[in-house]
Amino acid sequence: MQERPARENWASHAGFILAAAGSAIGLGNLWKFPYMAYKNEGGSFVLIYLASVALIGLPVMMAEIVIGRRSQRSPVGAFLTLGGKAWSSVGVLGIAVGFIILSYYSVVAGWTVQYLGRCLGWSLGGFTPEDATNLGESFGAFLRNGPSQILFHGIFMGLTIGVVAFGVKGGIERVAKILMPLLFVILFALCLNSMRTPGFGEAIRYLFTPGPISKGGILEALGQSFFSLSLGMGAMITYGSYMRRESSIPRASVMVCLLDTLIAVMASVIMLAIIFGQQDRSQFGASATILFTTLPRMFYEMPGGTVLSPLFYLLVALAALTSTISLLEVVVSFFIDQLNWNRVKASIAVGLAIFSFGILSALSFGAVKSLSTFAPLKDTPEDAGFFGQLDYLATNWLLPIGGLLIAVFVGWFLPNRTTRDELATAKGPMAGYGAWKFVLRFVCPIGISWIIYEVIRGAKFN
Ligand code: PFF
Repeated sequence: MQERPARENWASHAGFILAAAGSAIGLGNLWKFPYMAYKNEGGSFVLIYLASVALIGLPVMMAEIVIGRRSQRSPVGAFLTLGGKAWSSVGVLGIAVGFIILSYYSVVAGWTVQYLGRCLGWSLGGFTPEDATNLGESFGAFLRNGPSQILFHGIFMGLTIGVVAFGVKGGIERVAKILMPLLFVILFALCLNSMRTPGFGEAIRYLFTPGPISKGGILEALGQSFFSLSLGMGAMITYGSYMRRESSIPRASVMVCLLDTLIAVMASVIMLAIIFGQQDRSQFGASATILFTTLPRMFYEMPGGTVLSPLFYLLVALAALTSTISLLEVVVSFFIDQLNWNRVKASIAVGLAIFSFGILSALSFGAVKSLSTFAPLKDTPEDAGFFGQLDYLATNWLLPIGGLLIAVFVGWFLPNRTTRDELATAKGPMAGYGAWKFVLRFVCPIGISWIIYEVIRGAKFN
């Protein structure tokens, strides 16, 4: 093997946890999960989601970090080193998926920046009844406005490139260390505030009382756990490759899964409490746009809303940023590790390529008709359009396939010696190693194959 300089490491164990939690916690928790929980009528969906985080998410996350730390490489190099040429295609798949997800994720992330600006304007200048009635319409107009879509997508990509160009310790870890605690504090404040509102009790009952659930709901919960934990495309392989030898993989993984789940549940409580506190819920569809069309009005109708509303959008934007950083890092680290590019050049070049490709998604919300109706993969109203097609492809196909291959690789191909060694802590072998291995060998592949099988049969779970 060729000699290479020592790999940059996280400055601390907490640095890894915050960066990995930052990757996991994002629009998936604050935007997707609450409306999915609402749409699927709460209780059972939340329960199944929790089960799939514990049974599939956690073991696969540990597997990804094992691959990364053992190989000290980003996904392609990691599979090449540990598994050989054929397995390296799993790494290539991961990089392609990172590229795809970031290209459209950054468009929605851009909306949060736009709404942060809007809310600041409303908080300072006043939120009028006309503003309230026009929310849906003005969001629609914003979506159809091509230059605005490109501008905010560009701003978000610019921020992401800026952080990644500074590297692991100087950029990613530093940003995560500041932003993640801030995010917890803001969310905690919002949660406390929601306890005082009339909708709180009903929100808790809705989220935690099990009821009937459809097969589609079960599949959605499984797919969502992959997306939300950033699994199946090598983000955790990449972050794991910067992890110090002394850090415990099982402990870090449990922590990241707990934080990610806690935030998703807290965000759902906050949003559902606002919704259930309203007299008129008729206009509250289970639509994906509630974050932008319904919430601002609700914020300004509640006490403290002038402060809480910009804070909330700041929180969502920050959470999205720590996720886009990890998506870009997966692609950039390939160019650094395998092609010896320098970090700044790789960040800018890759970032610009992703930005350019993302323009197609940015223009697919009505700005360009052919992009908005583009639907070669799945022709349903929610999935139509370039953005919807990419999200469908990534969440329903590519992440589960990546996760399946990762589980099979670590469960069946990596020698026990290697996995045991990586998972051992300073105190000795990992407790429950046999159970982890069993789950990875059997439960994960069967569970994930089932999702893929159902997708092939046409069940919808996004
Ligand atoms: N986990 C992020 C979220 O929930 O918003 C999305 C994501 C980030 C998916 C990084 C995949 C990834 F590698």
